Amino acid sequence: MKVAFVGSEVYPFAKTGGLGDVLGSLPKAIHKLDNDVKVFMPKYACVDHDRYDLSYCWSIGEIPVRVYGKVHNINVYTTSLPNSTVDIYFIDYPPFFNRHLLYTNDGDEDERFILFQKAVIESMQRMKWIPDLIHCNDWQSALIPLYLKDNYSWDRMFDKTATLLTIHNIGYQGRFPKETMFKAEVRPQLFYENGPVEVWGSFCFLKTGIMYADTISTVSETYAKEVTTSEYGEGLEGVLRHRINDFYGILNGVDYTVWNPETDKHIPFHFSRKDLSGKLKNKEYLLKASHLPNKKNVPLIGIVSRLVAQKGFDIFQDAVSELMKRDAFWIILGSGEDRFENLLRSLSYAFPEKVYTYLGFNSELSHLIEAGSDMFLMPSRYEPCGLNQIYSLRYGTVPVVRKTGGLADTVLDWHEYLHRGFETGTGFSFNSASPQALISTVDRAIETYHNKEVWNKIIANGMTKEYSWEVSAEKYMEVYKKAIKNRKG
Ligand code: ADP
Ligand code: GLC
Repeated sequence: MKVAFVGSEVYPFAKTGGLGDVLGSLPKAIHKLDNDVKVFMPKYACVDHDRYDLSYCWSIGEIPVRVYGKVHNINVYTTSLPNSTVDIYFIDYPPFFNRHLLYTNDGDEDERFILFQKAVIESMQRMKWIPDLIHCNDWQSALIPLYLKDNYSWDRMFDKTATLLTIHNIGYQGRFPKETMFKAEVRPQLFYENGPVEVWGSFCFLKTGIMYADTISTVSETYAKEVTTSEYGEGLEGVLRHRINDFYGILNGVDYTVWNPETDKHIPFHFSRKDLSGKLKNKEYLLKASHLPNKKNVPLIGIVSRLVAQKGFDIFQDAVSELMKRDAFWIILGSGEDRFENLLRSLSYAFPEKVYTYLGFNSELSHLIEAGSDMFLMPSRYEPCGLNQIYSLRYGTVPVVRKTGGLADTVLDWHEYLHRGFETGTGFSFNSASPQALISTVDRAIETYHNKEVWNKIIANGMTKEYSWEVSAEKYMEVYKKAIKNRKG
């Protein structure tokens, strides 16, 4: 099968979160199942041309792409995904993509990703490469299903091409003023009277994708159920319920060539389930590097996160004065909203002996935190999948999470399972999005930490869990086949 992946970030070229990790690894897993795979993303300023040996696609050449009646000449560069033969294509248009950040609040944010999507389609036309399926990811590629069925339907080339839209986070929908429909050159009939591209008077990229993709998926089974409710659906629950027969939940996998404590190139001491001595050395190294004292038998709690409301930092904020009374160290890496950056900054000022915070994006430190921490906290209000807790399991770092979305599907609460008679728990979790629930769960984890026998059992349970992409890739193949079978005209 020929499969095209389209998305706005791909590790290691550009990443702000888990989407980058997924698009850096799932295409390789699909390729391993004997498929012809190509990946498409924008050529941002951060994409390192020399390091990744990008070459210009002469066979494609310059393409004039029209947005809002204006023609922009785009170019395409290519290389392979690291350690693979999967080709990735970068849509180059410096006025749109050479910006400080991947995503902006600039007035032309809609045009940036309209251009990107049209450029992807037109690159395929130039290459004469006809995918059986285009796998779109999030709002930045959610117009493609409509484009194939409408704007580009004159080109019979895509007559048999099916689409899958994967929703990685329904909190980001690409909603813009109604004028965006003109920029996107979408027929006004599709907007008015609760049309398929409209939500509350806005033009919505994600809704368009949900309406027009042949199949839709999201990144865990629990989140797939949650987003069909008004509590989690962010206004799109009705549309998702409308498409329920074509909507699937498939848990993300992990690239264990990148996230493996036995081989991780970012950590000073390797370790395994059989020999955890390196883990303790990483902890000592991390504490020292963070200017925190090295007190024995005091747990180190790690956080690596985008600092946004989704991740439950408001709950953390309300719990923090109580949490700081506990005998524990905290190392927190993140960047995001000012209010949360200020909170973390003030925490490390107020508790320099307890808390180290690093505000910014730092891949190396993120690996070190996974390796050196005893626990990993994710009090998310919602979490479509979440990758850090899955990395934590492999690194013997016990996740403490709110039981939602992918967190509910991957972390088994130690006490809950013990109560049922099983010593199979892998972490600690809580239901209520309240500071009290967070505090009492951290307390349970700290108390259990001091029982070394039980703690080692929880670590071992987590480290044996396997979330490799092979299993999820097989599930995607099934969904791809359904999409192709169901392709609507
Ligand atoms: P989300 O995609 O919602 O941000 P995930 O848990 O799926 O959450 O994935 C987050 C990914 O981004 C992980 O690989 C994590 O290590 C990484 N990450 C998040 N914030 C940072 C940061 N400040 N520095 C380095 N890596 C980060
Ligand atoms: C989103 C979600 C996260 C998920 C990631 C990759 O950013 O917030 O939960 O793991 O996408 O699918």
